[in-house]
Amino acid sequence: MTRQLIEFENGAPPDPRQLRNALGRFSTGVTVITTRSPEGKLEGMTANSFSAVSLDPPLILWSIRNEAPSIKAFLDSRVFSINILTQEQSNLSHHFATPKEDKFGDLEFTEGHGGCPLLKDTLAHFECDLEQTVSAGDHQIMIGRVVRASYEDASSPLLFSGGRYAIAAPLPNIDATADLATVWDGLG
Ligand SMILES: Cc1cc2nc3c(=O)[nH]c(=O)nc-3n(C[C@H](O)[C@H](O)[C@H](O)COP(=O)(O)O)c2cc1C
Repeated sequence: MTRQLIEFENGAPPDPRQLRNALGRFSTGVTVITTRSPEGKLEGMTANSFSAVSLDPPLILWSIRNEAPSIKAFLDSRVFSINILTQEQSNLSHHFATPKEDKFGDLEFTEGHGGCPLLKDTLAHFECDLEQTVSAGDHQIMIGRVVRASYEDASSPLLFSGGRYAIAAPLPNIDATADLATVWDGLG
């Protein structure tokens, strides 16, 4: 096992791919975040930067690249929906990570809060008002206030780990639920 060391020079890694590789050691779920622009155009993009922030009030965040074609729609509409993907939906992740004029043409969805698309058969939805944006380097952090949510008990999440899609498997012979409850009743 060789550990890769990245020495930053003048605030930047010598090769940006090394920083990406290091960040990719942190596994995440995969979401598709959708909106409806004030002109009525539907937009959506794959994002793994989603995170829970606060239970009371109910806040979540994600971040969007300043250069993303859909950023204007997200900033102007001030509403969005987070769609958490299941392990059967890597094709949807790929679809929404690929720039295209209309990403919704062939898809099944309903319209939720503010007319934002809610994709079919996802693991969970969070329908949000845009509460605050924070400019951070080459991204905008979007903080959303959840106004409605739903989730599925039976399905399993799609994961993104080390630059690849993955599936979750419980650790055999370990049930940490009881122990965790004694130390932390915060965001699950
Ligand atoms: C697994 C995965 C996670 C991604 N996460 C983000 C993210 O958090 N923020 C972001 O700006 N782009 C992210 N992207 C890239 C966008 O999905 C991609 O740039 C997309 O084309 C943006 O949509 P748009 O072209 O309609 O603006 C991710 C892509 C993949 C495959």
